[in-house]
Amino acid sequence: MSSEWTIGIIGGSGLYALDSLEDAQWIGVKSSFGEPSDEILCGRIGDVRVRFLPRHGRGHRIAPGELNARANIDVLKRAGCTDVLAISAVGSLREELPPGHFVAVDQFIDRTKARADSFFGSGFVAHVSMANPVCPRLSKMAAAAVGKGGGKATLGGTYLAMEGPQFSTRAESRLYREWGADVIGMTGFPEARLAREAELPYALLGMVTDYDAWRENEKPVDVSEVIEQMGSNSALARKTIEAFVAALPEKRAPSPIDTTLDDAVITAPDNHD
Ligand code: ADE
Repeated sequence: MSSEWTIGIIGGSGLYALDSLEDAQWIGVKSSFGEPSDEILCGRIGDVRVRFLPRHGRGHRIAPGELNARANIDVLKRAGCTDVLAISAVGSLREELPPGHFVAVDQFIDRTKARADSFFGSGFVAHVSMANPVCPRLSKMAAAAVGKGGGKATLGGTYLAMEGPQFSTRAESRLYREWGADVIGMTGFPEARLAREAELPYALLGMVTDYDAWRENEKPVDVSEVIEQMGSNSALARKTIEAFVAALPEKRAPSPIDTTLDDAVITAPDNHD
């Protein structure tokens, strides 16, 4: 019997060399929201269908602020994903979250600007709850899978989504710590918002690459540090994905979060297109 799960993975460039992905082929999926970052690498790990989308495109061509997150989520939905696990590099805002550590985040603070961050508008109004932005079941399974892959993960943490592409000033980095943020990245939002609007349970595993810029007398983050740490993180991320998929039960009970839009749409049914 085949699995009831189809797992969408949005991840960085090092991840699509997943040795255990069987029958793998790149498939282009069209979106009415424009061009997604790339084709989707479709395959199976055991009985589970896996749909991998390289967030920045193969070869890391697309800057965070240029990502078409609407098209990316839309193509994963069209590719039949039941759940989406996002993996991305993050800076740490806490001493106890060192480079190499993973965090299954459960909250976000949005400091992005001018990104298309909703499927709604243009005559169709909906206000989706983002109070609990991730699926706790997926997050828990993702954090457990890091451990099985040989790494360390913290379950829960607040992700500060910044616009970039520049890194933060020291004052910003310190401010975000005061706000209660634990990690910082450039891609988690609006991706998580859009997954919710698309009724897709979503979890985000942040792979810590650096300590950002808040530490007194320490060198602030730079790209060489991020790339070097990503090299070692991506082997662990691949093992994590394999362990995550291997641990899925065959049957898929509904997500513990209410992903339906039943309570979100405000435009009267007669006025829907
Ligand atoms: N991605 C990895 N490290 C980061 C940092 N310090 N700030 C923003 N995005 C990041």
